[in-house]
Amino acid sequence: MTDILDKPATSPISTSRHGDVLIVTSNNPPVNALGAAVRQGLVAAIEEAEGDEAIKAVVIRCEGQTFFAGADITEFGKPPVMPWLPTVVDAIENCSKPVVAAIHGTALGGGLEVALGCHYRIAVKDAKLGVPEVKLGLLPGAGGTQRLPRVAGVQKALEMCTSGAMVSAKDAYDAGLVDRIVEGELVQHAVALAEEVRDIRPLPKSSERDDKLQAARDNPAIFDEFRKANAKKFRGFEAPEANIKAVEAAVAKPYAEGVIDERNLFMGLMAGTQSKAQQYFFFAERKAAKIENIPEDTQPRVVKRVGVIGAGTMGGGISMNFLSAGIPVTIVEMAQDALDRGTGIMRKNYEATAAKGRMTAEQVEQAMGLLNPTLDFDKLAECDLIIEAVFEQMDIKKEVFGRLDKIAKQGAILASNTSYLNVDEIAASTSRPQDVVGLHFFSPANVMKLLEIVRGAKTAPDVLVTAMQLSKRIKKVAVVAGVCHGFIGNRMLMPRQVEATKLLLEGATPEQVDRVHVEFGMPMGPFQMADLAGVDIGWHRDPNRIENIRDALAAEGRWGQKKQAGFYDYDDKRRPSPSPRVQEIIEDFRSKAGITARQIDDEEIVERTLYTMVNEGAKILEEGMAQRASDIDVVWVYGYGWPVYRGGPMCWADTEGLGKIVEGLKRQEERMGSDFSFSKLLLEKADKGEKFTR
Ligand code: 3HC
Ligand code: NAI
Repeated sequence: MTDILDKPATSPISTSRHGDVLIVTSNNPPVNALGAAVRQGLVAAIEEAEGDEAIKAVVIRCEGQTFFAGADITEFGKPPVMPWLPTVVDAIENCSKPVVAAIHGTALGGGLEVALGCHYRIAVKDAKLGVPEVKLGLLPGAGGTQRLPRVAGVQKALEMCTSGAMVSAKDAYDAGLVDRIVEGELVQHAVALAEEVRDIRPLPKSSERDDKLQAARDNPAIFDEFRKANAKKFRGFEAPEANIKAVEAAVAKPYAEGVIDERNLFMGLMAGTQSKAQQYFFFAERKAAKIENIPEDTQPRVVKRVGVIGAGTMGGGISMNFLSAGIPVTIVEMAQDALDRGTGIMRKNYEATAAKGRMTAEQVEQAMGLLNPTLDFDKLAECDLIIEAVFEQMDIKKEVFGRLDKIAKQGAILASNTSYLNVDEIAASTSRPQDVVGLHFFSPANVMKLLEIVRGAKTAPDVLVTAMQLSKRIKKVAVVAGVCHGFIGNRMLMPRQVEATKLLLEGATPEQVDRVHVEFGMPMGPFQMADLAGVDIGWHRDPNRIENIRDALAAEGRWGQKKQAGFYDYDDKRRPSPSPRVQEIIEDFRSKAGITARQIDDEEIVERTLYTMVNEGAKILEEGMAQRASDIDVVWVYGYGWPVYRGGPMCWADTEGLGKIVEGLKRQEERMGSDFSFSKLLLEKADKGEKFTR
């Protein structure tokens, strides 16, 4: 362990004086993370203030885009360097002279804990405050779980600690977390406040307050009520419960004991697999934005108006993303009724959001006002990006792109939302394949965060950069995929679906297969998902075909939730129950195939549905269809609800051990037959004891 060092020559912390106020400034881009040098500099600055009689008060502020955005996550897992953050926060709070935190940007995690150590907090209007540690599988470990409830109240602390969500400066002020909101030069206001309070004693210390704990002390049942109310949200996660326990300790115990509980809970989380997976995922998400094999200085094209072709399920949702971001959309349909229906649904969706208080009526009108619905294809000539979302048929897509080629302006980006079709083939129906790209949104497109950017053989670098930049503007997380059947996400879904269906024939029930997936942490299993998306998808093209269980369900009108019958029966409130009719259909197929039902254990389900997905992910990687293993994980967490505390399929496979995955697949190889073949990369890595992700 390294000891407190002298302030390094190039410390990110500097001090200056304004009269008798010491201004402590951090300059540690990009987000003023509280790395070792920052921590050392802060302690040294407090010592400087203590040691100088001329100094009567201190202001702590940051240069750049933000106040401290938390501990430096890249230091986690490495040998600790002194001083620890709790020591720094204590040093600030124990300073005999008033310390003011001047907050701009985002005061997050350890950053907010530093601010809570200060005696006063002042913030600009658009500042945001939060403790996002829970999203990293952690809790605020520098006294935050003890000081926050004392300053902002127990309920607010519980909400902030377990959601990790940021609160606005105004909310923070209302909760007592910020003493003053200012406009204009923050540092001037902070110095003015420091001068105003320079003689106030005793200094208000967050750790010594307990007025806001009293209500919870009188009614400790609030903790269990909170647990109960959020049980669904917290399912499977370890960190929310640890956060609750820490806040509970703040209420039940004196501060000095509460911080010990906090430390123990923090260390417990840090040692577990969930926080490792969640920290890994934090960086995975950011890495996904980096596009490989393009010149670094590639500049994006300008996108001022977007065109969307098709106002169906996807076209409407896709349009809403751009409208909500203030980008005008021209939407084109084949017939007036389809256009009216599509735009009507968009309006209804916006109004539903407004009814929940998440939008104002004015914002609804603003968004819809940016929409230009038309049957006139030529109107697409004014668009910089045109996204096709028509039926999933190659001949129709080619016809649409051929037409677009004649209409679209020079340099316009032509995108397809196809789920499976070959983007290169679509591009070849134009004279400008360099402008063609896949933009694969997920349903519902206005809600789901994931966007697969499908890079064709000829897609130009600036088209990719534009798509990546736009994805941020519309608040999506984008991942670059190569051209292959189903790209990353849907391609990995296929082996899972094949094996899940075979398991039914061999003796499992839809309930058992789905339960295994839900217990694993997925929001739903493969059959629940089929019922939600529609059992009839893809069946209508050939309604006479009854080749498998799914076709048989579709042929009987069991199309899923929309018909209150699919793999399950549904009541009026869409609550599922096992269906005797489905069991009959399964048994019928089983006997036709000459299969005798056998007992199937949960482990086999995991090996045949989840291990096969890992194997497919490895194939995607070895074929270069994903840039990196972590991109596959981003697709699965954001596109399909893979539990983030398992990091995504590739990270999970690494945690399990690739040797174990290979062993499991070998055990099932015979049963899976010709539907399965091993990824060479997986075998190689398992053999060498390597990992995909870390
Ligand atoms: N530590 C190390 N690096 C960090 C970091 C952190 N806390 N926060 C952000 N970064 C890095 C990112 O990895 C990224 O690096 P890159 O450019 O090499 O990809 C760079 O800073 C910029 O980050 P973003 O791309 O996310 O920038 P944005 O402007 O979109 O967002 C932000 C800024 C809101 C601050 C966002 O980065 C964020 O949410 N950061 C994480 C905050 C957090 O989780 N803090 C808690 C840390 S844990 C803690 O404090 C424990 C304590 O209680 C003991
Ligand atoms: P949909 O059937 O709901 O909508 C398609 C719309 O396109 C219809 O309104 C139709 O009238 C219109 N259309 C057809 N040909 C047209 C043309 N030549 N000009 C103008 N409009 C035309 O289909 P959905 O579900 O929206 O799918 C669209 C595309 O998105 C498909 O390629 C599909 O694979 C893909 N996709 C679908 C997802 C889903 O969950 N539904 C998810 C991701 C992608």
